[in-house]
Amino acid sequence: MSPNTWPAEAIWEQVYPLLPDFTVEVLPEVDSTNSELMRRARAGQHEPTLLVAERQTAGRGRMGRVWQSQPGDSLTFSLSLPMAPKDWSGLSLAVGVSLAESLHPQVGLKWPNDLWVQERKLGGILVEAASMGGRSQVVIGVGLNIRPRPADGLNTAPAALTEWRPGITAAETLGLLAAPLIRTLLHFEQTGFAPLQARFEARDVLKGRRVHTSDGARGTSLGVSTSGALRLQTDAGVLDIHSSEVSVRPFSAEDKP
Ligand code: BTN
Repeated sequence: MSPNTWPAEAIWEQVYPLLPDFTVEVLPEVDSTNSELMRRARAGQHEPTLLVAERQTAGRGRMGRVWQSQPGDSLTFSLSLPMAPKDWSGLSLAVGVSLAESLHPQVGLKWPNDLWVQERKLGGILVEAASMGGRSQVVIGVGLNIRPRPADGLNTAPAALTEWRPGITAAETLGLLAAPLIRTLLHFEQTGFAPLQARFEARDVLKGRRVHTSDGARGTSLGVSTSGALRLQTDAGVLDIHSSEVSVRPFSAEDKP
């Protein structure tokens, strides 16, 4: 893919009135866009930057997982922003709300920040932060499946955006997502997650379902709180789960809830 295919200038034109020192960069290859922007943040580079990679050689997912993607079949980018919200809670959920709303009415959200369609993962979000000399820089990484890829034998094939938006490319998808995402983040910085709670709920794929968490909790999802916690009705009462180091799955037909 040629760098000219990417709508870098169009995105910059939409964003620079909000962030005058904003830059957009496209790299043919990097280990991980999150790792690269975290290195830059730690080295004192605080300019708001959108970094797109056509290929990642060491893409990272949440909870230490690997994020695999093929050039053209997926969109991989990260956004680095200096931020100082009063309350950080719910940030990754806010990112999910913005992305889902930009993509398609059918795109759902699986707490804390997976994009899901019809019980399959369409994309994921990795939020990291660097604090240097009292400043906080957040790095938000997004990986989205654009074209279908086969199941790996163990798991069902993930969802792909072209199933709902036939023919859409990674570059066109970035053009849809980037400016609304930045507007959502600037809004989040002022107001926190609470005003976005209803929009998350409208796409919440877990609400009302029996779920189990990676740390052993089980119950029925009551949805998310105004601070972005997952509210579980368990046998022992309502449990609010705040940690993003927990993964949650709905019980499937084969499970014994
Ligand atoms: C997850 O679902 O576990 C989160 C996946 C996040 C993947 C993206 S791809 C762009 C950015 N760079 C990375 O190394 N990871 C994120």
